[in-house]
Amino acid sequence: MAFCIKCRDPHSRARRGELTTAHGTVQTPVFMPVGTQATVKAMAPNELRDMGAEIILGNTYHLNLRPGMDIMRAAGGLHRFMAWERAILTDSGGFQVFSLSKLGKKTTEGVHFQSHIDGTRLFMGPVESMAIQRDLGSDIAMVFDDCTAWPATWDEAQRSLDLTLRWAAICREQPRAPGQQVFGIVQGSVFPDLREKAVKALCELDFDGIALGGVSVGEPEAEMVKVLHTCAPLLPEDKPHYLMGVGTPRQLIIGVMNGIDMFDCVLPTRMGRNGSAYVPTGTLPIKAAVYKEDFTPIQDGCGCYACRHFTRAYIRHLLNTNEILGARLMTTHNLFFFLDLMRQAREHLEKGDFQPFAEEILRLYPEAMG
Ligand code: GUN
Ligand code: ZN
Repeated sequence: MAFCIKCRDPHSRARRGELTTAHGTVQTPVFMPVGTQATVKAMAPNELRDMGAEIILGNTYHLNLRPGMDIMRAAGGLHRFMAWERAILTDSGGFQVFSLSKLGKKTTEGVHFQSHIDGTRLFMGPVESMAIQRDLGSDIAMVFDDCTAWPATWDEAQRSLDLTLRWAAICREQPRAPGQQVFGIVQGSVFPDLREKAVKALCELDFDGIALGGVSVGEPEAEMVKVLHTCAPLLPEDKPHYLMGVGTPRQLIIGVMNGIDMFDCVLPTRMGRNGSAYVPTGTLPIKAAVYKEDFTPIQDGCGCYACRHFTRAYIRHLLNTNEILGARLMTTHNLFFFLDLMRQAREHLEKGDFQPFAEEILRLYPEAMG
C-alpha cells in the first residue's frame, strides 16, 4: 500500500499517515513547497532538505514552455535536472492554462491556448499533460482538469465538471513513469450535489489519491470550508487527500481537521519575498520602521537558519536594499514555519492531543488575519 494511516484523532477527521513514493517516504499531514520553474524560489535543494521538506511541487504548464520537454528529457527528468532527490508532485497544467494563458477554444480533447511568455499557440489535453508528466518523471502526477472559476453558475460548474471527469478517465489510462502515482481532482465549485457527484465518480476510477481543486479561487473562506464539509465524509479513507493551492496556517489546520493529508501554497515563499514573515500570532511586515533597531530574531525560539543567526534589523536592511539574501532568509523562515506547523500537527496527532493544538491555532489566526 502506497499510503498507510498510523493514527487518527478521535475528535475530528484528522489522520497521521505515511505516503510511500518512488523517491522516499512522506510523513503526512504534509506541506509541499511550490517549485513551479524547477526551483522553489530562492532555495537550494540542500536547504529544503535541511528544513525537512520531503516533497515539492513542479508545474507541467511552465516546464513544458520553458525549458521545454526536449531539454527535460535530455536532462533525464525533473529530479535530475534540478538535483532534488526526494519526492515531486507535478500539477497537470489544468489550473495554469486557465489562470495564466490567453485561452482559445476548449474542446472535449483539451484546450487551445497561447503561451503567457511569447504568445505561441499550443494545445494541452489529458493525453498531452500525462505524457509531459511521464517525461518529467514526477512521483505523483495530477489529472488534467478544468478548474472552474469562481463565481460560476450551477450550469457552468456542471459542464466544467463533466469535462473534468471525462478527462480524468482518459488520464487514468495513459502510460506512466516507473512508480508514478496519479491523483484525481474533484471540481464542482460550491455546489454540494456536483462535489458529491465528482467524488463518487473519481472513487470509481480508483486513483492513487484524490485532490480537492477549485478552492482558493477567490471565494470566501466559509465557502471553502463548506466544500470540505461536503467532500470529507465521502473521500476514500485509505487514499491520500490533497487540498490544492491551500493555504493560510488557519486553513491548513481546518484542512487537517477535515481529513486532508497534503497541501501546497505559494504563500510562504511569495509573502516572504515581499517582506511578510509568518509568526504564531500572524504576519510581521519586516520592512517596517519599527524593526529598524530590533536585534531579535524574526521569531523567538524558531529553529530555522534565519532565526538562529540573524536579526529583524539585519533582514529588514537586506530587504530594503534589495539584497538577494533578504529574500532567501525570509523564504527560509516562512517555509520552515509551514513545514513546522505540519510537523507539530503530526506530533500532536501521535500524542493524542491534536484537538487543543488545533483550537489554539484557530484562536491565534482568526479568519480575517489569514
Ligand atoms: N491548483 C490549485 N487549484 C487547482 C485546481 O483546481 N486544479 C489544478 N490542476 N491545480 C490547482
Ligand atoms: Zn525562523
